[in-house]
Amino acid sequence: MEIVVSGIRPTGNLHLGNYFGAVKNFLRLQDEYNCFFFIADWHSLTTHPHPGDVKVNVRKILAEYLACGIDPFKSAIYMQSDIKEILELYLYLNMNAYLGELQRVTSFKEKARKQPENVNAGLLTYPTLMAADILIHRADKVPVGKDQEQNMEMARKFARRFNMIYGVDFFPEPQSYSFGGDAIKVPGLDGTGKMGKSEGNAIYLIDDAVTIRKKVMKAVTDSGPVEPNSEKPEAIANLFAMLKIVSSTDTYDYFNEKYNTCQVRYGDLKKQLAEDIINFTSPIRERILDFSANIEYMDKVAHEGAEKARESAEKTIREVRKIIGF
Ligand code: TYM
Repeated sequence: MEIVVSGIRPTGNLHLGNYFGAVKNFLRLQDEYNCFFFIADWHSLTTHPHPGDVKVNVRKILAEYLACGIDPFKSAIYMQSDIKEILELYLYLNMNAYLGELQRVTSFKEKARKQPENVNAGLLTYPTLMAADILIHRADKVPVGKDQEQNMEMARKFARRFNMIYGVDFFPEPQSYSFGGDAIKVPGLDGTGKMGKSEGNAIYLIDDAVTIRKKVMKAVTDSGPVEPNSEKPEAIANLFAMLKIVSSTDTYDYFNEKYNTCQVRYGDLKKQLAEDIINFTSPIRERILDFSANIEYMDKVAHEGAEKARESAEKTIREVRKIIGF
């Protein structure tokens, strides 16, 4: 059976980017495949050296996963830091990862620019740890958003390299998975770029209706098109991209037609977009609140998930040790 792995750093609440980039695609696979979904708490140390109250943070994220529909009966849900075998694989992969290629990774360069006082080795070797997360289960498919493409390329490279150096056909080359083909990028509504926690432009699944309306109404727009069928500037294209993700095709077509005939009223568009987002998030938000109240259940989920993940990880490490010669 094919194996699926995905993960999220616990540096904040889940936002629409996380949901539509990764979680939704994961949900599409969990009925058919052997699925692992984890919280990348070691990865978050690369930017947040003080994890705070780990237990509280973990439960918060677990409640969000469960509320999205990740099902502990079908998928192993666990903390990265509960699986020590990942570290051993990380070490082996690092022995065959080269400084030059790690320094060229775009997200390394970006983060190094953002936190010049803390360009740590973990930041540099972020892609090897991510590869270890994936290869530890010998995964085939990895549901991730577009922003993870380069990390996925690195994971494939490390898998190939391991196989080549040791003359084996052990690790499959893990592929990014997105339903319908191309990985998606959920845009921010602040004019440019993607939605992200660190970008400060995220709409969270836990946001209430008032907050969502406020955030959407603040979205950057312009004075509107003056020529029919003109190309949309980035901020407007982002707004439409969001509409495509959360609204019905009819709604999208309606506003697109209005845009193309220079009759669009951004206020109406935003109001509709806000309501569609609220319709989508409010049942999830309710479930998050329900799960959050059930601490015992969440601790049980994390414990059982770790057991399942450990079993798979131990098996891989046993074989890797044999292959390398330990
Ligand atoms: P992270 O925590 O930044 O994001 C978690 C997942 O959400 C996706 N995502 C987006 N997708 C589309 N549009 C957006 N605006 C958007 N923002 C976030 C990300 O692509 C990701 O899939 N390195 C990973 C965590 C990780 C991981 C792994 C993932 C560590 N090890 C192994 C998969 C497999 C990260 O920082 O994701």
